[in-house]
Amino acid sequence: MEISTVLVEFTFVAIVLYTAYGIIYRLYLSPIAHFPGRKLAALTLWYEFYFDVIKRGSYVWEIQEMHQTYGPIIRINPYELHVADSDFIDQLYPTVAKNVEKWSWSAGMFGSTGMTFGTVGHTLHRRRRGAFSNFFSKTSVRRLQPVIQSRIDILCKKLSEKMDTGEPVNMVHAYSALTQDVITEYCFSRSRNVLEMKDFSPWYYELVQKPSELSHMIKQFPYMLPVLNLLPDWWICATNPLFAHFRAQQLEYVSQVQTILFHNNETGSESHPTVFHSLRDDDDLPLSEKSLPRLVMEAKSLVGAGTLTSAHMLSMTTYHVLMNPPILSKLMAELEEAIPDVSIPCSLQNLEQIPYLGAVINEGLRISYGSVHRLQRVHPDTALNFRDWTIPPGTPVGMSSVHMHNDPAMFPEPRKFDPSRWMGPEKDLRQRNLFNFGRGTRQCVGMNLAQAEIHMALATILRKFGTKMRLFDTVRERDVDVKHDFFVTNPSLDSRGVRVTLHSNSRKT
Ligand code: HEM
Repeated sequence: MEISTVLVEFTFVAIVLYTAYGIIYRLYLSPIAHFPGRKLAALTLWYEFYFDVIKRGSYVWEIQEMHQTYGPIIRINPYELHVADSDFIDQLYPTVAKNVEKWSWSAGMFGSTGMTFGTVGHTLHRRRRGAFSNFFSKTSVRRLQPVIQSRIDILCKKLSEKMDTGEPVNMVHAYSALTQDVITEYCFSRSRNVLEMKDFSPWYYELVQKPSELSHMIKQFPYMLPVLNLLPDWWICATNPLFAHFRAQQLEYVSQVQTILFHNNETGSESHPTVFHSLRDDDDLPLSEKSLPRLVMEAKSLVGAGTLTSAHMLSMTTYHVLMNPPILSKLMAELEEAIPDVSIPCSLQNLEQIPYLGAVINEGLRISYGSVHRLQRVHPDTALNFRDWTIPPGTPVGMSSVHMHNDPAMFPEPRKFDPSRWMGPEKDLRQRNLFNFGRGTRQCVGMNLAQAEIHMALATILRKFGTKMRLFDTVRERDVDVKHDFFVTNPSLDSRGVRVTLHSNSRKT
């Protein structure tokens, strides 16, 4: 027999044995082999690939079905478990400084583990987050009120211009322009001014939305982005205009961060300090953490995180309020009392005291989920205990808002938009189940900013236009309900957005 034939046969046998061992290991020998779930999911990551890449962000619904079949703890891929029981939140996402990591496989799903959001290790994460978390404290955000209000005023002016024209306004784009302008102003002291662009420039919405759509693909194929980045500009421009815009935007981030890094005399806008000037001037942050590429990643992540989530919540809540006249009427009565003169804005502190507005916001948060993707954590040093199960140290485990927010025991008739569920004595218990911002040491750092934007935008816009807005060709199943998990929520891919027309003859509430 020839040597080459022996080599081929040997290779073939080695591959068969290796595959057989892999199958046996994953199904019977792995430390999580005894956890319930579908065998195919336990066997290969291609199962998740099929749902998240081919069927576009729908593994979350398959996970929901698996829970119905197999119970509150399941194995969802060869390495990872998923839990649907809010009593487990505090154990999985501790608030005390404990060694808790992100799972490296999914932490890079937005293209890098260099930003705070994608940082794997506990200590590095603390250092990175600590360098800007002060900016997003309640006190700092309160100081930012005039900036947020000035942007909301521009949005109101734009909405007024559409009065009685019959032209529909896409509120997803409108709110995303608002949140993008606020976060870019706060980060760089240079707002992107999307609110001033025609129809709130849907391109700018897509520039933050599309990377989230690509995140599953990047998770499965982490080398995809570096390879795409190697392609020449002319090729990108000729084949995909959106990628061309990504490139242009990348240059914009580089230039903004560069300007801040290399102009030492400039400390940011006079009206407010900015995140990146502060990162630049932080003496505790080593130079390696202030490199241009890392700060550009951080900038992209902050703008993306600060734009989409709040915008989706605001547009979904606007839809549900306009769809439910009794809710609109009750809210309008409260807003008219709290803001008697529409030209004088109410302070954030006072807005936070309006009970029904708070209830509408909580219900909007519940029904819009925040991040619909599971938030995985790894406890490298300790085993976790869930009911009778012991989860071995080092196992990635995730939980998702979708399961907690739709739990009928906690939220009867979960599909119903019902702010009254936040007015009774169960409010505090329900609040514990609200998982929009995640929990623990990696809980959303922008939570106070998001809450401020949401309170101020909903109060101002509904007070001014609540009775003047009519929904325009907006269908709940097509345009509003969450259908895809692109880490952030996404309605059906056929969605035309939450659209409204504006009419000076107010409807009765
Ligand atoms: C309604 C609005 C928002 C929702 C629902 C939301 C949701 C979330 C969630 C669930 C996480 C945790 C991710 C994880 O555990 O892996 C997170 C993290 C984060 N969010 Fe938000 N977010 C919102 C608004 C914002 C805003 C306005 C900013 C602006 C800066 C922001 C910046 C961040 C950052 C930087 C992280 C990473 C935090 C860390 O890893 O320490 N988010 N967000």
